[in-house]
Amino acid sequence: MIKLSNINKSFDETVILKNLDLSIGKGEIIAIIGPSGCGKSTLLRLIMGLHRPDSGSVVIDGDDIVSMRQKELNKVRLKMGLLFQSGALFDSLNVEENVGFTLKENLKLSNEEIKFIVNQKLDLVEMSGRGNDNPSDLSGGQQKRIGLARAIAADPQIILYDEPTTGLDPILSTNIENLIVKLNKDFGMTSVIVTHQISTILRVAEKIYLLKDNKLLPPETPDSIYDSSYEEYRQFIRGGLKT
Ligand SMILES: Nc1ncnc2c1ncn2[C@@H]1O[C@H](COP(=O)(O)OP(=O)(O)OP(=O)(O)O)[C@@H](O)[C@H]1O
Ligand SMILES: [Mg+2]
Repeated sequence: MIKLSNINKSFDETVILKNLDLSIGKGEIIAIIGPSGCGKSTLLRLIMGLHRPDSGSVVIDGDDIVSMRQKELNKVRLKMGLLFQSGALFDSLNVEENVGFTLKENLKLSNEEIKFIVNQKLDLVEMSGRGNDNPSDLSGGQQKRIGLARAIAADPQIILYDEPTTGLDPILSTNIENLIVKLNKDFGMTSVIVTHQISTILRVAEKIYLLKDNKLLPPETPDSIYDSSYEEYRQFIRGGLKT
């Protein structure tokens, strides 16, 4: 359902991704790991159509989004939700308006319907009753959870998580991990998780890919990663990458 082929992406003169291939099946949960600055967020943005590759194809459900016009692309984007690494909430909107943003902009729903869905999603991320708060009054972890509620507001088939548990306390982190698994099991959401958090990888991912030298290494599983034939995977799981 997601197929990236021969992707090349540079910023100015710096090559970030080179001849990268990645196929993700419907309903899969994969994790992408790798050193800071190696291009993980860039990869998620390419899948979401927020960056275009210099060459290569990004096929979502059979459609190559690389050459799409904005209007078509917006339609495909509705199938996807992205939890931004930084939260990226709109400061001029309150929590309820942030979570309901995609619904209001793209779907013909009444205000009551939007409110109902927003409350449901706030409940899921354990932020019930915070609809009237301003994003700037929330902690980093709370902003992350509101970002997640916004990403899943329109019930996407694909969800891209950029560091979903970083900066959360252990209990909240576990709750978010459980939520990621629940969204996958109950709604069959295909999930791509960029993370440095070992607990998240081991508890949630079916396959783990390490991004290094502009490419993805062949994947490991939570069981196979300890004895990977690649030193990079073993180093990561033993407690941190050499960067
Ligand atoms: N819009 C942009 N314009 C120019 N350079 C960019 C842009 N976005 C990312 N980069 C550069 O591309 C490289 C990869 O960035 P990216 O954010 O994808 O890394 P990352 O793997 O997500 O890192 P981290 O783990 O720190 O979040 C970095 O060197 C970054 O400076
Ligand atoms: Mg990043």
